[in-house]
Amino acid sequence: MLTVNKTLGVLCRLPKWQIHGFLRSFTFRPGKQFLHKLVLGIETSCDDTAAAVVDETGSILGEAIHSQTEVHLKTGGIIPSVAQQLHRENIEQIVKKTLCASGVTPNELSAVATTVKPGLALSLGVGLEYSLQLVNQYKKPFIPIHHMEAHALTIRITNKVDFPFLVLLVSGGHCLLAIVQGISDFLLLGKSLDMAPGDLLDKVARRLSLIKHPAYSTMSGGKAIEHLAKQGNRLHFDFQHPLHYCRNCNFSFSGLQTAVDKIITQKEKEEGVEKGHILSCAADIAAAVQHTVASHIAKRTHRAILFCQQRGFLTPSNAILVVSGGVASNLYIRRTLEIVTRATNCVLLCPPVKLCTDNGIMIAWNGVERLRAGLGILYNTEGLRYEPKCPLGVDISKQVGEASIKVPSLKI
Ligand code: KG4
Ligand code: ZN
Repeated sequence: MLTVNKTLGVLCRLPKWQIHGFLRSFTFRPGKQFLHKLVLGIETSCDDTAAAVVDETGSILGEAIHSQTEVHLKTGGIIPSVAQQLHRENIEQIVKKTLCASGVTPNELSAVATTVKPGLALSLGVGLEYSLQLVNQYKKPFIPIHHMEAHALTIRITNKVDFPFLVLLVSGGHCLLAIVQGISDFLLLGKSLDMAPGDLLDKVARRLSLIKHPAYSTMSGGKAIEHLAKQGNRLHFDFQHPLHYCRNCNFSFSGLQTAVDKIITQKEKEEGVEKGHILSCAADIAAAVQHTVASHIAKRTHRAILFCQQRGFLTPSNAILVVSGGVASNLYIRRTLEIVTRATNCVLLCPPVKLCTDNGIMIAWNGVERLRAGLGILYNTEGLRYEPKCPLGVDISKQVGEASIKVPSLKI
């Protein structure tokens, strides 16, 4: 009894997806009858080859991932043909590893869900080609997945979040604010006019030569900046906040990139440090950049919340902001957003870090959501193509701009 109580105590403190994993270690499968529908998710839209099997209840039966980060760090950015080659080399073993960890055969799957948009053409092509071969061989339905829709719905694996909710998606390729009204029913409030925040942080990390620092050499740029910033003083540098006078929910990061680049060049001259070596003020620059990114994101999100509240998109009793995508792993950015949600009586929800960055679980889960709702399930895949560029939802950003909401300043 004591052991049972202890186990229950541990379980209560774990997030739902870990609980399922824990329980599964005890699961017996009489005659291997699965009670729930199973979806295999495959993700190859950028630089991660990932797969997972998730059931209808959100239980993760197995997963595997091969990250290309270290290779791309060495080449100074993602070279699409290199990413394609690495996906080709890894996809089969990643899917096999996933099925093996799940204890599931392809015949037992209810469907295969794969990212087909948006992303790098050469990378998307590998996942799609492999998936189509699999569904044709095993006569399974195919569910094409929008990568950003998957990031937005991930939270519903771990938390009970009903529609509608507000979502902020911040990653290496995207930055957008949207109202999620249903599984594939989005209203776009604003997006980046140029680059994504993850892309900016990756470029700043590269410009600061953090790859030469043993502590940061294998981390993604964003993660390296977050860690380095802890040792810096953000007040030593003051970067202008982007789009300060535009009362909409769009984002911009390219001006900040130019300003950071200029400062680094100036400091290299002052310190007599050659390009490619680490500056003594690198941590201060990292802290100031991270702060400017966080403040910019917070300001636009604050306006989006006020817009949603004004127009009745978010109910006062259930106003939820979900933040996801690789950059949502950043705790400084999360804490900054918490200041905004507290001031606006909203609840901030972020998936666990592991589910914020690209993974196969979110794709499989998106497949589960679509399977349950009977949305976009293909029994014939003829003529199906991947789409490197693909907007998300109905764009109402013009209405947001026209509302011209002034955001009260918050102490960040
Ligand atoms: O969602 P994701 O895995 O891939 C895309 O869909 O883009 O996001 C990857 C991005 C990279 O730019 C990476 O530098 C950034 O997320 N990232 C972070 C952190 N961890 C990953 N950015 C800031 N702080 C982090 N801790
Ligand atoms: Zn992503």
